[in-house]
Amino acid sequence: MMRPAIAVYGATGHTGQFVLRELQRQGHPTVPIGRNPVPTADDAPGSAPEQWRWATCDDPDALDAALHGVGAVINCAGPFLDTASAVIEAALRAGIHYFDVTAEQRSARQSLATYDEDARHRGTVVIPAVAFYGGLADLLAIELVRGARAIEQIAIGVALDFWHPTPGTRKTGERNTARRLIVADGRFTPLPHPAPSCEWTFPAPFGVQQMRAVPLAEIVTIRKHIAARNISSYMSTAPLRDLADPHTPPPMATDSSGRSSQRFVMEVRADVDGQRVAIAVAGQDIYAVTAPIVVAACVQVLLNPPVIGGAFAPAELLNTREIFAALQPHLTVMRTEGERMAHPHGVAPFTSSSATVPRHPLGSDVQRSPGRSA
Ligand SMILES: NC(=O)c1ccc[n+]([C@@H]2O[C@H](COP(=O)([O-])OP(=O)(O)OC[C@H]3O[C@@H](n4cnc5c(N)ncnc54)[C@H](OP(=O)(O)O)[C@@H]3O)[C@@H](O)[C@H]2O)c1
Repeated sequence: MMRPAIAVYGATGHTGQFVLRELQRQGHPTVPIGRNPVPTADDAPGSAPEQWRWATCDDPDALDAALHGVGAVINCAGPFLDTASAVIEAALRAGIHYFDVTAEQRSARQSLATYDEDARHRGTVVIPAVAFYGGLADLLAIELVRGARAIEQIAIGVALDFWHPTPGTRKTGERNTARRLIVADGRFTPLPHPAPSCEWTFPAPFGVQQMRAVPLAEIVTIRKHIAARNISSYMSTAPLRDLADPHTPPPMATDSSGRSSQRFVMEVRADVDGQRVAIAVAGQDIYAVTAPIVVAACVQVLLNPPVIGGAFAPAELLNTREIFAALQPHLTVMRTEGERMAHPHGVAPFTSSSATVPRHPLGSDVQRSPGRSA
């Protein structure tokens, strides 16, 4: 069977290039799309110049032509407040699936709230924030809370040894002036000012880290389908200092796959039915790891489209076991905590660096927040 082509919008960017290469590595036909034709082939690597298509977000006809004949589009062009609506609307007109890698809360919220009905009507999916920020914590959180009766809180901690930001990250930070949101008492609530801080003990080599609350798209994705009373997320302060410094350089490739040497650990902790459960995963380069996450999601939907379309948080729709199996080479489980994790009922999806291997509880009575909108 011919595999449908997958379009990558924003394919000239750092993340778009990782996504394009990951799709090609897995043998998927690709259509790279940029906004402005670039002067030389070196400026648009990854595909022959004639395979590129060009469309700006304010030109619906050009977007329609760019998406012609593909099965799905992965939008990597951020700030997503500037691109998501236009690309989603083009995807809906084309009747194809849409994925993006936004970390922006407002963009993810808008996409989930605005396009659910239209996508359902067309039988396609809109899944924002299928990325390191936004998606990964959502996919981990569902593993911790599946089958729970009461979820008091979910807290996400991210430690990075450094953060060399791309121009897109810097521009997104400037564009993203909306007050950040957490979930308190079941409701979206503005982050208190000043942002709360805490200490968080990660597995080695990070150990004890000073953390500051920096809620990103994961608050929106988790809240979309998990009825936790409180949801918050924290980042270690070293990368925040890098972001605040205008002289911090952009990421530099240190291996043949283009990854920088940046290391990350993400831990999700949940208080579930009176018990603390947690899982921590580690890997290299938050931009690079976004590619296998969004590619796994897109491929899963193309191979196995849902019966009913709509706008979904990643873990609301995706088969997480398959996603984590695809992510095995990219993520290492550093530790797990809690009886729920120690008494598994399913199949181990991860390789683990500790004796405790997380498994998927197969009960599927996930608590869902009322309604389908964000
Ligand atoms: N959630 C996560 O974990 C995660 C992970 C990775 C990236 N991201 C997000 O993804 C976005 C891109 O990051 P990046 O690292 O790839 O940055 P980048 O290397 O600077 O690339 C930005 C890309 O977006 C395109 N672009 C920007 N504004 C556009 C617009 N208005 N219309 C059309 N295209 C536009 C750029 O096109 P030109 O080349 O023509 O300028 C380029 O292709 C950022 O918002 C970043 O926050 C999120």
